[in-house]
Amino acid sequence: MVPSKRLSRLGIGIFERYDICKQAYRFASLSDNSAPLLDLSLGSTDLLPPSIVLDAISQSLEAPESAAYCLNIGTKPFREVAADWCKKRFGVSVDPEKEVLLLIGSQEGTAHLPLAVLDPGQTGLILDPSYPSHRGGLVLADAKIETLTLHSEEDWKPDFRCLKASQLQDLGLMVFGYPHNPTSQTGKQSWLDEAMKLGLKNHFIVAHDNPYVDLVLDGEAPALLNSPGWKEGGIEFFSFSKAWNMGGFRLAFAIGAEPLISALRGVKSVVDFNQSLALQRGAIAALTKADDWPVQILSIYRKRRDTTIKALRSLGWNVPKPSMAMYLWMPLPSWAKNRGWNDETFSAKLLSNTGVALTPGSGFGLGGSGWLRLALVRPVDELEEAIHRIKIWWNANS
Ligand SMILES: Cc1ncc(COP(=O)(O)O)c(C=O)c1O
Repeated sequence: MVPSKRLSRLGIGIFERYDICKQAYRFASLSDNSAPLLDLSLGSTDLLPPSIVLDAISQSLEAPESAAYCLNIGTKPFREVAADWCKKRFGVSVDPEKEVLLLIGSQEGTAHLPLAVLDPGQTGLILDPSYPSHRGGLVLADAKIETLTLHSEEDWKPDFRCLKASQLQDLGLMVFGYPHNPTSQTGKQSWLDEAMKLGLKNHFIVAHDNPYVDLVLDGEAPALLNSPGWKEGGIEFFSFSKAWNMGGFRLAFAIGAEPLISALRGVKSVVDFNQSLALQRGAIAALTKADDWPVQILSIYRKRRDTTIKALRSLGWNVPKPSMAMYLWMPLPSWAKNRGWNDETFSAKLLSNTGVALTPGSGFGLGGSGWLRLALVRPVDELEEAIHRIKIWWNANS
């Protein structure tokens, strides 16, 4: 069998590639007694969702309707709650019939969107670095891909002035997201406003991937729903994976201009029958009965962030303090550069020598080269253990 050209253009994603290395380490550590794997490479948390959410799910699991296919009409209670949440969270009125769509993860939504709104050969723009589904969705839709490179000296701000007028006029879609993964920069509302303004002026769609909206430790939490004009050509993706610790449950939603929601629903009607009603009831409980939740989660991440940064800086690693909760974005140490290592070599050597897995930044695009991402997804004592192992290895190599 020869896979499609589109699939070979997609290549093997960073998480899949790195998973093979992690499996190899795990396997070897069983026989050679080396330290167990400490996986800080995925944004997949050790924390549980609120118990009120788990109760709502377990109470609904045995209901026959939870095991049945759920057509769009069945998602109505969820869509109404999502619309109410938008009103409460952003003060924005949203039509639950026409402007809300349930998703099986915001990854699914951002990956399917280009199929819904671009014709083959049309151009989509993504940030570099960015979350892999942004590029992947454009590849699957046979779109032409343009990138806007972010720079550390500019605090990872998207400088739209780098885009020529002709480039802007050619665009069909811009996909981006702040708070930003992998740089952990929360971003500013004015950046989103500017993107939406450019989209309206140049007639391209603006898609904002916002799964971290409730994981801001310092500063503002931008949202496209706060940007004037989104009802004409914008769509925003929210997720239960991050602040609600429900990544494995696969629940998210899109809020957007009516034609965009309708187009994405059209693609999804071929691909899936929505998420189970039992899980939707968990999501409804999250949005209606756990108001204090994201705040509790933030205090856990703040402690993890501050402890880990302090320990890393004591090694001489100049790690910037991120304003978003879940990740540290760390420059490749100069001693490693002097040895001719790049971020991928560094993380491979770190993994095989210490069992600590970080993500090489280049996995998020060339703009992430020379950086490493550490996910704060383990308890403080395990993070301290990771730094202890890194320290021994660091001192032996630097
Ligand atoms: C920017 C971004 N979008 C989407 C996702 C995936 O979210 P979900 O679990 O809702 O598919 C992630 C996960 O790390 C992410 O960082």
